[in-house]
Amino acid sequence: MENSAAHTHGKAVISIRNLCKSFGDQVVLDNFNMEIYDGENLVLMGKSGSGKSVMIKCMVGLMEPDSGEVEILGKNMLELHHQEKDELRAEIGFLFQGSALYDSMTVQENLEFPLRRHKKKFKGGNTNEMVEEALESVGLAHTKSLMPAELSGGMQRRIALARALILKPKIILYDEPTTGLDPITAKEIILLMMDIQKKYKTSSLIITHDVDCARVISNRMILLLEGTNYAQGTFQELSTSKDPKIKAFFK
Ligand SMILES: Nc1ncnc2c1ncn2[C@@H]1O[C@H](COP(=O)(O)OP(=O)(O)OP(=O)(O)O)[C@@H](O)[C@H]1O
Ligand SMILES: [Mg+2]
Repeated sequence: MENSAAHTHGKAVISIRNLCKSFGDQVVLDNFNMEIYDGENLVLMGKSGSGKSVMIKCMVGLMEPDSGEVEILGKNMLELHHQEKDELRAEIGFLFQGSALYDSMTVQENLEFPLRRHKKKFKGGNTNEMVEEALESVGLAHTKSLMPAELSGGMQRRIALARALILKPKIILYDEPTTGLDPITAKEIILLMMDIQKKYKTSSLIITHDVDCARVISNRMILLLEGTNYAQGTFQELSTSKDPKIKAFFK
């Protein structure tokens, strides 16, 4: 399918070309290609085990691909030195699958973590104010001194979101942001993600199985199937496709 959005969007903030990754005999990614354009919400769908998390890990350098290219904000991610890679990562907010908060740290300490890690980007910034602003933007200013175990699943997800955006990243990667939440809380998280995009003008990649989430949030979608970008287009284009393999995603 032709990617009509490519003509209407600005430049690519992330560009992945011919990404390949196998584990032993198991081919997970087989020449996967993807661009994320400036300011868009790109949804990536693919069934469980299809390689979505592997792709995202290769993209941010948490896993080494066998071959392929990853360009982020004009830089070749796979060839950067450790420090340059780290600086580039400060421009990327990452909401891990699950919430992945540190259980033994308070909410405040969880949020301070990326600030300490990327000191360089925020030298002179007021840590306390930044934590408060991030918490306010997810509506949880009152939870600063609580432990993750004292929060509901939906609240934990919001805190993880606050932690992902505290560095005011240009790009946010969401791995299954609504999984495990009830439909109402899931909708709240989706609305929050949309607010954040408007407020900070971020470009986002959203990995999800949730068709409702995809319908509401996507400007464009890519379907990952058999290791490759099988189809791309708008929700409308893909959800009305006659291809049985594409139709299966929307059941
Ligand atoms: N470190 C690893 N070592 C070996 N195999 C791995 C490793 N990480 C992932 N895999 C395999 O790669 C495949 C893709 O895994 P991945 O986690 O990317 O799936 P996914 O699309 O994110 O699925 P889900 O929707 O369930 O999160 C799986 O078969 C998994 O077992
Ligand atoms: Mg996954």
